[in-house]
Amino acid sequence: MKKHIIGLLVVLLLVAAACGDDDTTTTTAAPGTTAAAATPVEVFSWWTAGGEADGLNAMLAVFEDEYPEYTFENAAVAGGAGTNARAVLATRLAANDPPDSWQGHAGQELIGTYVAADQLEPLNFLFEEEGWLEVMPETLIPLISEGGQIYSVPVNIHRANVMWYNPGVLTANGVEVPGTLEEFFAAAETLQAAGVIPLAMGEAWTSMHLFETVLLGTLGADAYKGLWDGTTDWAGAEVTAAIDNFATMLSYTNNDASTLAWDQAAQLVIDGTAAFTIMGDWAEGYFKAEGLAPVEGFGWAPAPGTDGMFQFLSDSFVLPVGAPNRDGALAWLRICGSKPGQDAFNPIKGSIPARTDGDRALYDEYLQSAMDDWSTDTVVGSLTHGVVANDNWKNEINTAIGLFLDDGDAAAFQAALAAACATAGACG
Ligand code: GAL
Repeated sequence: MKKHIIGLLVVLLLVAAACGDDDTTTTTAAPGTTAAAATPVEVFSWWTAGGEADGLNAMLAVFEDEYPEYTFENAAVAGGAGTNARAVLATRLAANDPPDSWQGHAGQELIGTYVAADQLEPLNFLFEEEGWLEVMPETLIPLISEGGQIYSVPVNIHRANVMWYNPGVLTANGVEVPGTLEEFFAAAETLQAAGVIPLAMGEAWTSMHLFETVLLGTLGADAYKGLWDGTTDWAGAEVTAAIDNFATMLSYTNNDASTLAWDQAAQLVIDGTAAFTIMGDWAEGYFKAEGLAPVEGFGWAPAPGTDGMFQFLSDSFVLPVGAPNRDGALAWLRICGSKPGQDAFNPIKGSIPARTDGDRALYDEYLQSAMDDWSTDTVVGSLTHGVVANDNWKNEINTAIGLFLDDGDAAAFQAALAAACATAGACG
């Protein structure tokens, strides 16, 4: 009996995997070649939602044009922020079955996980060959390096602290775009009284994403940075105030948040069911994929209290030790770091190029404003998207947030955050 159930499960999983392939796997032969002649390059990411998947397709078209000898094998695993993909990747790496290249965030996610486990080849030679040190921001290089070795190719810069809104809903309710947390709460009261969900939120990682923007909005850039190097006290009054603000924020979110993916939460804003969502600017890619235009279709502002601050993250791709198709992986990385690759990908993805020489004319109003802010704002790193804390620390914070969402015990939450910093070795 047990065997039958397991057999049935295996069949179901195989069917599901086969169906999933329809959505996420494209293996196309470049014009003038045959699929049999070209070698596949398996690229692993979590870009399957509207906007992000389209951006990936635009970049892979550049790849296939440039390298007809390879076919692009899209091994994307659905799930925002890589929550599912990274678990699948870990299993594959443990089984010594790496894809040819995978997506990883610049910062602690890259250095503290893959580099720490000796899973990556250094790429200094590629940076030299391609002249990338001259065109990648100086501030980004340390976040992808360890001991003088560079370990990934950044393809973009995303902004985490963005508040997106439905302009029609704000106008209909006489609500101005809030700048501070207090203004946001006042706007939320008006909207809630009118039967509109003030703030659309999704599954667990999106609450961490919200929390990091509230930490930044409450503490300011310097004290926020200090959370990650032990100079700001997690047990102190500023963090108490941030937790209080986070609790207030949560009181304005949709009841079904835990069942929604980030793009489904963004959809509530498109539909006008909700007024705001706080999400990285891949939401811009989603809004555009849904046919909305910046300004008329959707509005944006820094997350409350974070004007002048740019909470950043960067998607990058790596060369694993033992890549089955190392030459193909290098070809992919050359496209990831190239101007044509980045300028094909980013305008659709909702990010700005990691390179400093992107063609500004290809980017819309929102993205041009992000380019300006990236060069003038105070830049801080994202927690949820791998910049400031390694996986162990981030997982502890994630557990603490999950408990807080359930029990609302602010004191226990703060104690858990302080303990997580200590365990990570960053505090006291
Ligand atoms: C982030 C990633 C973005 C976007 C987002 C939602 O972690 O950096 O590129 O994909 O997740 O999936």
